[in-house]
Amino acid sequence: MNTIPFRIQTIEDYKNAYKASVDNPENFWDNIASNFIWKKKWSKTLEWEFISPQVKWFVGGELNITENCLDRHLEEKGNQVALIWEPNDPNEISLQYTYKELLSEVNKMANVLKGMGVQKGDRVCIYLPMIPELAFATLACARIGAIHSIVFAGFSSNAVADRINDAQCAFVLTSDGMNRGAKQIPVKSVVDEAMANCPTVQKVLVINRLNWNVHMDLHRDIWYHEAVNQVNDLCEATAMGSEDEMFILYTSGSTGKPKGVVHTCGGYMVYAGYTFANVFQYNPGDVFWCTADIGWVTGHSYILYGPLLQGATTVMFEGVPTFPDPGRFWQVIDKHSVNIFYTAPTAIRSLMASGVDHVLSYSLHSLKLLGSVGEPINEEAWHWYHTHIGKGKCPIVDTYWQTETGGVMISGMGGIHPQRPSYAGFPIPGIQLILVDADGNEIEGNGVEGNLCVKFPWPSILRTTYGDHERCRINYFATYKNLYFTGDGARREEDGMYRLLGRVDDVINVSGHRFGTAEIEDAINQCKKVIESAVVGYPHDIKGQGIYAYVILEHSENSNDQTRDEIIESVVEHIGKIAKPDKIQFVGGLPKTRSGKIMRRILRKVAEGEINSLGDTTTLLDPKVVDEIISSRL
Ligand code: WT7
Repeated sequence: MNTIPFRIQTIEDYKNAYKASVDNPENFWDNIASNFIWKKKWSKTLEWEFISPQVKWFVGGELNITENCLDRHLEEKGNQVALIWEPNDPNEISLQYTYKELLSEVNKMANVLKGMGVQKGDRVCIYLPMIPELAFATLACARIGAIHSIVFAGFSSNAVADRINDAQCAFVLTSDGMNRGAKQIPVKSVVDEAMANCPTVQKVLVINRLNWNVHMDLHRDIWYHEAVNQVNDLCEATAMGSEDEMFILYTSGSTGKPKGVVHTCGGYMVYAGYTFANVFQYNPGDVFWCTADIGWVTGHSYILYGPLLQGATTVMFEGVPTFPDPGRFWQVIDKHSVNIFYTAPTAIRSLMASGVDHVLSYSLHSLKLLGSVGEPINEEAWHWYHTHIGKGKCPIVDTYWQTETGGVMISGMGGIHPQRPSYAGFPIPGIQLILVDADGNEIEGNGVEGNLCVKFPWPSILRTTYGDHERCRINYFATYKNLYFTGDGARREEDGMYRLLGRVDDVINVSGHRFGTAEIEDAINQCKKVIESAVVGYPHDIKGQGIYAYVILEHSENSNDQTRDEIIESVVEHIGKIAKPDKIQFVGGLPKTRSGKIMRRILRKVAEGEINSLGDTTTLLDPKVVDEIISSRL
């Protein structure tokens, strides 16, 4: 059985596929979807409108994604390794699961979940480090039709509680603690703290990672290693409607709290499988390693679902790039003979800064293809990656996409297209991009720039934001009529290649992770000494963008490092360490328009050090605050 029949391998294939996808999208996706196993075939390929919005793919079809990820491979690949787990500590033994073993683990986990009372449609919050049980749990939810909401294990208890409450989760999965480089970090106690504010949670399943003696609530908490002894490893895959909700993943927007992006079963499966095969030009037998955390969408689509749908061998890494030394990635590549390596520019830049000596002790000869995701890859990082990691022989595929898109939208497709550092590449067949001006008019032709939108649905477009469809409409479909708006600016070059120009909304991208400025400001404002704050991004050598906070204090005599620490602590408490401001400048006032709107453009320029090009400041309520901000800038 060929699971990769829709492979696009040449420029000609690409052109033909692209044309077919535009001429007759239904037919194009019908063909691709037919390569998966359906419990019931769909009756209608697509129903859509981008006003409410409402998008339905493979209407009337029934499937279970885990049957496509696991069961379907048993006959030919039952004894092939599906998952390689590499621990944080190189001296701890790495684990491998064949397709047969992985299915068995997933079924056991599924049976434990069922035993706890988890049913189809229930929301399950998964707050776990990168241990094999995270993979089992995610797939186990999908197997029984529970909706997983994975929360990155670096988020604080407040952030976890917000997400649990928003999705009304009755079940939480966690671990005693986690490894992170040389440190061991509590995990269960973060959940315990969150539980004080999470009335919907009935049961918490705890995985033993560190043999810690954590607090267990007699009525609520269950040890996985005890529960798993009570179950067998058979569990039938629940039939899911194509449009049944499959998972929720929280992501930041320009306003309010993070929103729960919802993906559905049929379309997500088809697009994750299709893009994995084509973007990475995966060949049977290849070992694929995506270094993301499964807590982000990259990990959902390209550690778990995409690779498993194609019967691949996928690597899951518990650790960090710099432990025990900055050669760790390269050591793991040699150890597991990784063929395709997918990471983020921020990781490349930080390893580049540690010096090339850490690379030289490894051969890296197994590598065939390199990938990049999260932000544009700058020229310097691209060349370092190409020369020192790819040894000049591996194509680099940049991959532009979003939590909301479910899978890659723009890419070099495994080197089919010409590669140019800092360019994302060409749209994947099936993706109809359009650039518009501020009024929503299409900007036609090439050699142009505008706001990046998509004018036709693809199977894994987000369906809603959990519990608040209006928010989905306003965020993505209301800015420009009849278009999905990405929030990014882009340039289309003469040859049709796309270059992403960054967010055009109040979202900043720190190390490939998204934060709303409002979200960080809220966290800063929780600090008692603070009256008001404004947050902007600024160029940061390693992180891509750093977080620059302008803060007005109640008493200016508190303008000191202790207050800075308290502000940082407040952000850590409300969001997590990943959102710590890099710079905190105390100011007496913020540049506001007469209507009270903060002029972030000016704050951004100051943070970037471009104080000579502030533009028009005459519309400000008090133009003098700008001088003060400039004179005390960091
Ligand atoms: C935002 C999405 C799904 C990828 C991981 C981040 C930026 C992402 C690229 C790229 C330029 C990129 C965009 C996008 N972005 N990849 N290859 N080139 N920009 O997912 O947290 O949903 O963030 O990340 O600004 O809108 P996310």
